[in-house]
Amino acid sequence: MNTIRKHAGKFALGVLLVAGFNAAGAQAPAAAETCTGCHNDNGITDSAEIPTIAGVGGFFLENQLAIFAESERPCVAEGFADEDAENHCALISQLSEDDRMAIAEYFGELSYQPFEQEVDESLAAQGESIHNASCDRCHTASGAEPFDDAGILAGQPIPYLVDQFEYYKAGERWQPESMAEEMQKLDADQMKALAHFYAGAWE
Ligand code: HEC
Ligand code: HEC
Repeated sequence: MNTIRKHAGKFALGVLLVAGFNAAGAQAPAAAETCTGCHNDNGITDSAEIPTIAGVGGFFLENQLAIFAESERPCVAEGFADEDAENHCALISQLSEDDRMAIAEYFGELSYQPFEQEVDESLAAQGESIHNASCDRCHTASGAEPFDDAGILAGQPIPYLVDQFEYYKAGERWQPESMAEEMQKLDADQMKALAHFYAGAWE
């Protein structure tokens, strides 16, 4: 059903020739128009508070949209004052399930790029040992593997990562139970070290 719709769209747009070569040739679904002001057309962030959503995995993205729609993770309100929605969760909850799927598929297939930032090597080394002991079994390849269905941590902005660690520790964002056990143990210094490790972990 999805495949048929997608191909029909490409015929209609006359971009069939490039479609096979490069996912960036795909058109953003109309429903993504409200997203690109912050997430950009290519899903690559240029803000330290916003994660890159390109190439992080369609299944993971679909889950995040469901989680936002249910307000099962914090609903950032900054930047939404002039939008049709009062915060991130409200905006996502207005989307139909088909729109959410199309958006997740679109951004999920684009190419990932790490955020440019300065990494403290000594903090990163401390973070790496915490990662190996507590996170690596689910976030393989230093958090760079989209097929883990656990997002991409490698190359995400440090402030964004620290925010998420805090949300998880405080139980403010949905997470698998055995991840919650690991997040409980982290103090502020360890969170900072982990964030520096992931920030420099994209190869
Ligand atoms: C006003 C800016 C803004 C708009 C508009 C916006 N976002 Fe976001 N988005 C953010 C911020 C900021 C975060 C990080 C939230 C946090 O720290 O918890 C985020 C996080 C996300 C995430 C989580 C990614 C991850 O790795 O966990 C997804 C998915 C997402 N947004 C999708 C969307 C979609 C789809 C739309 C459009 C329907 C949209 N966003 C519109 C600012 C925005
Ligand atoms: C039992 C497996 C498991 C363990 C252990 C685990 N995680 Fe996760 N993690 C996941 C899954 C699954 C998700 C995706 C959750 C979702 O779909 O909302 C996730 C999501 C995340 C995210 C959100 C990424 C984003 O862009 O939104 C962060 C950050 C994170 N984990 C950090 C960690 C850290 C740091 C550790 C170690 C201290 C850890 N995780 C240990 C399974 C795990």
